[in-house]
Amino acid sequence: MSRINQSLGEFIIENQGEFAYSSGELSRLINSIRLAAKMVNHEVNKAGLVDITGSVGEINTQGEDQQKLDVFANNVFIQTLTNREIVCGIASEENEDFITIAGSNSDHKNKYVVLIDPLDGSSNIDVNVSVGTIFSIYRRITPLGTPVKKEDFLQPGNLQVAAGYIVYGTSTMLVYTTGHGVNGFTLNPALGTYYLSHPNMRFPEEGNIYSVNEGNYVHFPQGIKDYIKYCQQEEGNRPYTSRYIGSLVSDIHRNMIKGGIYMYPKSSKAATGKLRLLYECNPMAFIVEQAGGKASDGETRIMELKPTDLHQRVPFICGSKTMVEKAEEFIAKAK
Ligand code: AHG
Ligand code: MN
Ligand code: MN
Ligand code: MN
Repeated sequence: MSRINQSLGEFIIENQGEFAYSSGELSRLINSIRLAAKMVNHEVNKAGLVDITGSVGEINTQGEDQQKLDVFANNVFIQTLTNREIVCGIASEENEDFITIAGSNSDHKNKYVVLIDPLDGSSNIDVNVSVGTIFSIYRRITPLGTPVKKEDFLQPGNLQVAAGYIVYGTSTMLVYTTGHGVNGFTLNPALGTYYLSHPNMRFPEEGNIYSVNEGNYVHFPQGIKDYIKYCQQEEGNRPYTSRYIGSLVSDIHRNMIKGGIYMYPKSSKAATGKLRLLYECNPMAFIVEQAGGKASDGETRIMELKPTDLHQRVPFICGSKTMVEKAEEFIAKAK
């Protein structure tokens, strides 16, 4: 049951029953994410006024130029998640290795691991374009009472217990799933409270938006090139509209509301694509599927891929079901 004027706090309490395992803990975990997101939101909103934009002059483990807000958001999420007796480990796009959290009694009794892209679309910060945060939550698989291991983080996406994103856009929204549909909450900045504004979000079956960085067209595989040409042909509801912000969170958020397909394919320059399976593709795939859409690497369902590396990259295609299926058809034909 959801009420339109319901706050996120009330929603979490009223829907605790939907968590498969110890409900109180996972609720508290979502609560700490909503708090960290408010802190990041506050800082993002000040960008341009205080010295928080631009690069820190370091290259992160992804080989990317790390932005000041990447570092700030990473620290805020890690600190907020560490100060609760729930999380036993955190893996982040910004850290080479995972962080082990022993808990206040140093007994390694916390049950959940969190994987996070603290700031998504960070190249957009300096030009005042929407950015986001993405998170993914699993139950640990190694025994309680022992330090968390890499295998706790390398679980396939279909074992996620919750996933979500925050979009710091014209308004700030937190969208998440625990495997019972997708709900979106908008932050009222005057009150500091998120309200349920988008209950039971659903991808339209069919859409007319395609989102891909077409500047890379010459490097794309033939199947993707053929599908892009199909998007541009005049027939039925085609040509589709092209929309690409360059912030995964915002691009998928828009397509989920309006109907569309998002693609970050592999290319002759990046053999496995760009987006990270653990911090970006799996959580977004869980949300997309829970909203009735589809997410694949062009052939295989994203959430069935067996991760081999914390920072593994995979091709990513997601969105309205019929559109993703059509793209997969073109990929299969070109093989
Ligand atoms: P991040 O800022 O977390 O490193 O992610 C960047 C990602 C994603 O947000 C976006 O969709 C994509 O990179 C854009 O890449 P291109 O500039 O290559 O299109
Ligand atoms: Mn990055
Ligand atoms: Mn990202
Ligand atoms: Mn990032």
